[in-house]
Amino acid sequence: TAVHIIGVPTDYGQDRRGVDMGPSAIRYAGLARELAAAGVEVEDAGDLPVPRAEERDPDYRTPSEGNAKFLRETEDVSDRLADAVADTVADGATPLVLGGDHSVAIGSLRGSARDADVGAVWFDAHGDYNTPTTSPSGNVHGMPLAAALGHAEWAGVEWANAPRLREENVVYVGLRALDDTERAAIRGSEMTAYTMSDIDERGITDVVEAAITVAGDGVDGVHVSLDLDWLDPGIAPGVGTPVRGGVTYREAHYAMERVAESDVLRSMEVVEVNPVLDEHNETAELATELAASAFGKRIL
Ligand code: ARG
Ligand code: MN
Ligand code: MN
Ligand code: MN
Repeated sequence: TAVHIIGVPTDYGQDRRGVDMGPSAIRYAGLARELAAAGVEVEDAGDLPVPRAEERDPDYRTPSEGNAKFLRETEDVSDRLADAVADTVADGATPLVLGGDHSVAIGSLRGSARDADVGAVWFDAHGDYNTPTTSPSGNVHGMPLAAALGHAEWAGVEWANAPRLREENVVYVGLRALDDTERAAIRGSEMTAYTMSDIDERGITDVVEAAITVAGDGVDGVHVSLDLDWLDPGIAPGVGTPVRGGVTYREAHYAMERVAESDVLRSMEVVEVNPVLDEHNETAELATELAASAFGKRIL
């Protein structure tokens, strides 16, 4: 396998400044070295150019109704990222997108699903299924899945939809923080949602196996979206929206090892690492290690 690293230093999608430094911190933690040790060929494509939030006006509202901050900027980045991801897949490599906040998933999903049917496994504390109307924050990092799936006000938003991604092939793993409207929307959808309680009850082995099977059913490949707030804040403090009660170090590694073994990985992103909030870069180091596990790093 060849992996192409694509950094996307955005922080348009949320309010905690510093997540734009995620790609640097993850590279600093030795990502290329770790991936090479996992036996993959690595090419670092650098970062997509992303204007600083300070140069822009956050208060741009959606043309219809509701609130989605930095929507123009998100459109621009998503469009370029979708092209980069689609081109990488067309070259026969696997894109590894480094966020940035989780709004980058809009571009990753659209690019990954450009010429193929894809499923997605969403490792996250959050559902990221808000729309500009239901969002309590106006932060687009809480909306990428709804955007990609064309839910509610996102329907027909050409740059945001991933038409070849179907709800039936989208699976959450580790949910534990949903807004009320978001919970209702997820319940009414065709997506599969495994919460932390499911992991407690069935164990990570069973849940991840089921997740990969559902996401990969009848599609050409699977996009893995890894939000570092999926992990317990005790081991991943460098995130903007931490939620207690996340997965452990071993559970996270096991899940990524299963991703590698399943051989369905088409594209991946690692998001929400915020070095300003981190402790000695440990969350970036964890992101690096988990990416290596997802691309085949083994103990023996
Ligand atoms: N549900 C909240 C919101 O819409 C938090 C979303 C957090 N998302 C994330 N990718 N960390 O604002
Ligand atoms: Mn384009
Ligand atoms: Mn999250
Ligand atoms: Mn997220």
